Amino acid sequence: ENAAYQAEFDARIDAGATIEAKDWMPEAYRKTLVRQISQHAHSEIVGMLPEGNWISRAPSLKRKAILLAKVQDEGGHGLYLYAAAETLGVSRDDLTEALLSGKAKYSSIFNYPTLNWADVGVIGWLVDGAAIMNQIPLCKCSYGPYARAMVRVCKEESFHQRQGYDALLAMMGGTDEQRELVQDAVNRWWWPSLMMFGPHDADSPNSGQSMRWGIKRISNDDLRQKFVDATVKQAEVLGVTLPDPELKWNEARGHYDFAAIDWDEFWNVVNGHGQCNVDRLAARVKAWEDGAWVREAAVAHADKQAAREKA
Ligand code: 3HC
Repeated sequence: ENAAYQAEFDARIDAGATIEAKDWMPEAYRKTLVRQISQHAHSEIVGMLPEGNWISRAPSLKRKAILLAKVQDEGGHGLYLYAAAETLGVSRDDLTEALLSGKAKYSSIFNYPTLNWADVGVIGWLVDGAAIMNQIPLCKCSYGPYARAMVRVCKEESFHQRQGYDALLAMMGGTDEQRELVQDAVNRWWWPSLMMFGPHDADSPNSGQSMRWGIKRISNDDLRQKFVDATVKQAEVLGVTLPDPELKWNEARGHYDFAAIDWDEFWNVVNGHGQCNVDRLAARVKAWEDGAWVREAAVAHADKQAAREKA
């Protein structure tokens, strides 16, 4: 009986159909979606921390208002994604516990410090730029709730990237000190941004299955290459140098060649030993504990309402 369901599921995936929450799905399909969507949600929530640090220190009211909107968007993306994960039968509390206990992953990029205002612009330009590259194909993901969440996220993400680039253009048009701040931030964020796309395809345990199931539409390496090819021109217009002496156009390939990524650093950060991993989790644990009274009040209020309705 499962064989019939499995055959129908495979046929629908091969036909490019969308799987909905109430449809039969292989347990492994459900599990890998819970893994990816919940870690994506964790990335959004933890991703609010590096930038949130600069809301109170933005250089103008305009930049403060923009950054406030962006950080709020990231929080909203996290909530959409937790809601998409819940359609697969997991509870928000379990997902939160997995993050706060250090069991669940979130994007390595958020374990780097934001040292000054230029970092906020470079995060918008490079980190949100890489996130857009990664999230646009996810709008065509075979799992409906995830794909639909991505459509809304991608619209807001392009605003995030543009505002970052705009802030950097302003700084590059400023003083030498401002130009040095931008170049220094680019030097610190370039390689970690390339790591956002994940390990090389040959070292990616999930890619094969995720591509067969129409969850991952473009491979880690192909997306990373797309990002590099698109960003080199933007760096030229901005007037910054990307920190890779091997970055060079390869006519035969029709792409830019670039140097090897430091995978020891990648796995070191993914495994919890980056510059900010401890601070990021501590901040999330504190937010959870500080918010306990809100959860208790909401439950007490709901119980009172239920009792009133019963009376
Ligand atoms: N940071 C942390 N962990 C990473 C990682 C990274 N940059 N790249 C890969 N990994 C992990 C994977 O989660 C996997 O571990 P797991 O099996 O325990 O989950 C392992 O490394 C091997 O990687 P795979 O390539 O086999 O895993 P995937 O097939 O899941 O591919 C991915 C990794 C491309 C990140 C994919 O999970 C994905 O597309 N996720 C959804 C998008 C996402 O999470 N993007 C993070 C960017 S942050 C963001 O979007 C917020 C924006 O507002 C800035």
